[in-house]
Amino acid sequence: MKNDIARILFTREEIAEKVKYLANQIKSAYGDKNPLILCILKGSLIFTADLVRELDFPCTIDFMQVSSYGSSSETTGKLKIKKDMDSDVNGRDVIIVEDILDTGVTLSNLFPEIKRRGAKSVALCVFLNKPERRTVEVKADYIGFDIENEFVIGYGLDYDERYRNLPYVGVLKRSVYEK
Ligand code: PRP
Repeated sequence: MKNDIARILFTREEIAEKVKYLANQIKSAYGDKNPLILCILKGSLIFTADLVRELDFPCTIDFMQVSSYGSSSETTGKLKIKKDMDSDVNGRDVIIVEDILDTGVTLSNLFPEIKRRGAKSVALCVFLNKPERRTVEVKADYIGFDIENEFVIGYGLDYDERYRNLPYVGVLKRSVYEK
């Protein structure tokens, strides 16, 4: 796998430090709210696992897998739920945890769905943010790193389902995806 990486963007240590920083921010806002941490599969699984272990206050964890129909500029009512969560979000403070905010289409469709189900509040915590790619405005409450428009993999992020298990974030060599 290492041969496919052009360069390392964030090391294990840099990631761990950032996760602690985000957890502290979340703690000051949610420490007494018993929030529902909503991990959006699959990419977010590793970030979520690390983040929740830094949250030293009561919370619950659940999972959804979603994608969006249509083009990157269409937003309304295009959410496809591949796997739904078990939790009832009615009256809950929900924190959506995502590995990457790219065009914004997925999250702009997910937000209204969580609100429609009666969540008291919905916040967004993203590990990586690619502002250059945005086609729909999405407000992230907690952001790990802003990054350039590069093909990043590792720490949950994949190319064709591979590389999710890398413990760092790397930039994929062009030769891998232009084969
Ligand atoms: C990624 C990511 C977000 C979405 C962001 O998921 O986890 O859910 O894309 O893209 P957007 O801002 O352009 O909507 P992906 O569909 O790659 O699934 P995965 O997490 O299972 O890899």
